[in-house]
Formats: sequence, structure tokens, C-alpha cells
Amino acid sequence: MPAISFQSVSKTYSSTRNQTGPIVKALDDVSFDIQQGEFFGLLGPNGAGKTSLISILAGLSRASSGTVKVHGSDVLTDYANARRKLGVVPQELVFDPFFTVREALRIQSGYFGIKHNDDWIDELLVSLGLADKANANMRQLSGGMKRRVLVAQALVHKPQVIVLDEPTAGVDVELRQTLWQFIAKLNKQGSTVLLTTHYLEEAEALCSRIAMLKQGRVVALAQTSELLKAASSNVLRFKIDSELPTHLAAQARITGRIVQFPAHNANDIEQYLAAIREAGLVAEDVEIRKADLEDVFLDVMNKKPAIEAPAVTVDLAKVAT
Ligand SMILES: Nc1ncnc2c1ncn2[C@@H]1O[C@H](COP(=O)(O)OP(=O)(O)OP(=O)(O)O)[C@@H](O)[C@H]1O
Ligand SMILES: [Mg+2]
Repeated sequence: MPAISFQSVSKTYSSTRNQTGPIVKALDDVSFDIQQGEFFGLLGPNGAGKTSLISILAGLSRASSGTVKVHGSDVLTDYANARRKLGVVPQELVFDPFFTVREALRIQSGYFGIKHNDDWIDELLVSLGLADKANANMRQLSGGMKRRVLVAQALVHKPQVIVLDEPTAGVDVELRQTLWQFIAKLNKQGSTVLLTTHYLEEAEALCSRIAMLKQGRVVALAQTSELLKAASSNVLRFKIDSELPTHLAAQARITGRIVQFPAHNANDIEQYLAAIREAGLVAEDVEIRKADLEDVFLDVMNKKPAIEAPAVTVDLAKVAT
């Protein structure tokens, strides 16, 4: 039995409050399963539909059509069972300002009918670097600290499936490392993890399988290693001091002074460097690196639908199943 099963999930929103405005199709026939024990990444640009999918999974919103199950329990018709198996860290910082951290965690335990939970609460506080904040009021906490409490809240009932919607947004480097160590430990002990993040290096390091959403549709679904293999194998990277001519800029990924070109072989590399020289520019700090998940992501997102279907969705989906 899969840990999570999405079957033909669609979601439309009316763009105005009185439901008369144009319809936004946030999710369009999304189907995939996440197996028990997987560390699964759900990636996509802003507005792709990640939070919409997670809200439906968590029972916070209803799909317009389709079915979602958690360990076989339907999130609509068997809500209590589905919810108990899930620990969800929401993207939005929502919390009750009147309680201390420990009180908030005790109350959350109470929601799940767990009475004597202090040993586990203490372990969560220590593992998430919150031990010295146990008696602090929620409203006194910084943004990153509040996010740590949200993670602890999601885990109070030891859920089998952990869902994290951008848990590291606004979180410092040190906590990101502690958080991932802790989540990876829970995953090793058998928990399933579903993660969304815009930090693609985190996704590459942690997730064994990845789905990419674009405008509500699954446009790639494969093992992380397969996605990396399918990318152009190398990237030529260098710095320049002035602007690239437009015909070259169209092929490059540009971040400030850093320019990167996909390069399949030595010939590609030679041609790009020659073109730079002919444009009267000087390339500094030239290096060649392996393509990473960010390159794959940009590749997938920038492809036109007609090319995309055979090139990515079909081939990689086959590999994945
Ligand atoms: N309550 C709502 N009412 C109307 N439209 C909504 C609502 N919630 C989301 N949308 C729209 O649905 C689409 C998907 O939004 P969603 O929040 O799921 O994206 P996301 O992938 O989580 O993006 P991000 O990376 O920014 O968090 C967007 O076009 C968004 O504007
Ligand atoms: Mg979101």
C-alpha cells in the first residue's frame, strides 16, 4: 500500500470572492503514488500548485475532482484516520500567540488524544534547537524559531508520513542542517517524507525521487539520479564584466556576472568560448561542472509543452514505475 496516493486530482479556484471571476486551474489531473519509506520531493515554481496539493492531502481544502489516500485512508471519507497518519508543516506561519512553546505542543498532542507526551516533546525541543525556548511565549519568537515550533507541532503524534511545505524558508544554515539530520533520521526509522522546497540543492541531497509541477501538471516524475542523468551532462561556467550579446544570452543562465551554458561535449565548450572572444568579451574563472538539479529544473520548466511530453514526462515516468 502506498503511503500517499494522488489519483486524477484537479483543483480550480474562482479568482474572485463572489465566485464570478475567471477560474484558476491550480491542479490539473495530478496522479502519482509515494511509497512507504520514500523521501519524496515535490518541486515547482511559485504558483505551480504544490501548496494546493498539500492542502488537499491535509484535508484543509477539497479537490474539485479526484481521490487522495494516506495509507489507504481516503482524506475525505476517512478523514480522522488519514489525518492521524500525517504530520504537516504548513508554508504559512500560523500559531496561537497566547501559549508558550511547550503549551502549544501539549495542546497539539491533546488534539490527537495523546496524554503523557512530555518525553517525546522534550526530544523534539532538543532535536530542533528549541530547548531553551520551551517556556517562551510564541509571540516572542523570531520567524525562524516559529518555523521550528511548527515542525515540532507536526511531529508530536509521531506521524508515519511527514509533509513539509517549504520548511526551510527563512531558516538559518545551522537549523537547516539540524532539521535535515533529524528528518533524515526519522526517514531512516521508516517515516515517509514529502518535501517541497525552492532550495534545489537540498532536494538533490535528500530526495530519492522527485515530481516537478508546472501550472498544476506533473511535468517530470523520476528518481533523482535519473533526472540528473537526463540533463545535459556538463555546464560551462565563467564570469564576465559586460553584457552578453542577445543571441548568446538567450542560451545562457545568467546570475549577475556569472554566466552558465549547457555543454554536451568539448566542441560546445570551444564554440561558446570562441563566441565570447568574438564578441570582444573576456571570460574569467572558467570552469566546467556537472549539471545539477537546478539545471534539470530550469530545463524542464523552460521547455514548450509539445517538446516536453515525449522528452521528459513519458520517458522518465516509465523509468520511475
Ligand atoms: N485560495 C485561493 N483562491 C484562489 N486562488 C488560489 C488560492 N490558493 C491558491 N490559488 C492559486 O492557485 C495556484 C497554485 O497556488 P499554490 O499556492 O498551490 O502554489 P505553490 O506551488 O505552493 O507556490 P509557492 O511556491 O509560491 O508556494 C496559483 O495560481 C494561486 O494563485
Ligand atoms: Mg506553496
